[in-house]
Amino acid sequence: MIIMPDKKTWPVSITPDNYPEFISTSSEHLTRKGSDLAGYFEEEPEPDTVIYEVFEAETVGHIKMAMTVLKPGKVGNEFHMTKGHFHEDDKAGEVYVCFKGQGMIVMQTKEGQTDELRLTPGALAYIPPGWAHRTINTGTEDFIMLATYPETAGHDYGPIQEKGFIKRVVEINGQVQVV
Ligand SMILES: [Fe+2]
Repeated sequence: MIIMPDKKTWPVSITPDNYPEFISTSSEHLTRKGSDLAGYFEEEPEPDTVIYEVFEAETVGHIKMAMTVLKPGKVGNEFHMTKGHFHEDDKAGEVYVCFKGQGMIVMQTKEGQTDELRLTPGALAYIPPGWAHRTINTGTEDFIMLATYPETAGHDYGPIQEKGFIKRVVEINGQVQVV
């Protein structure tokens, strides 16, 4: 079965078995290397190391879908992570479904509230409107999740790029810790 026959208007079911087809039929592909995440970790990543890739489906209407493949690894003692962002539309939430690997979402509001969720395959995470979100690979294999969000959400990277997240996810004595 091809997941997205015309990539826009055909109903699809994305499963733990067929999700690679989503990747192969995606219309947009973004690669974030260490050089793209300069300043995000406490230590500087190797510039050429691929930290994560995003595969976006070509859709029509109000719902967008993108799959993130976050590579395992650490920079210093800090696990590989996405940049993280607020939505430009503060009424736009987001839903993640985890397909593979072990990881977390860290979230925070502009008022400084923080929260984090652990994600394993089959888990669904709801990110309420107004919460910045970043995903982290705390495992030893690719951490893969599908995000769905309103097409009008927009991405605001600025506040996180300037100040980072309040919480970091690190390995201390072999344990995953949020500090
Ligand atoms: Fe988002």
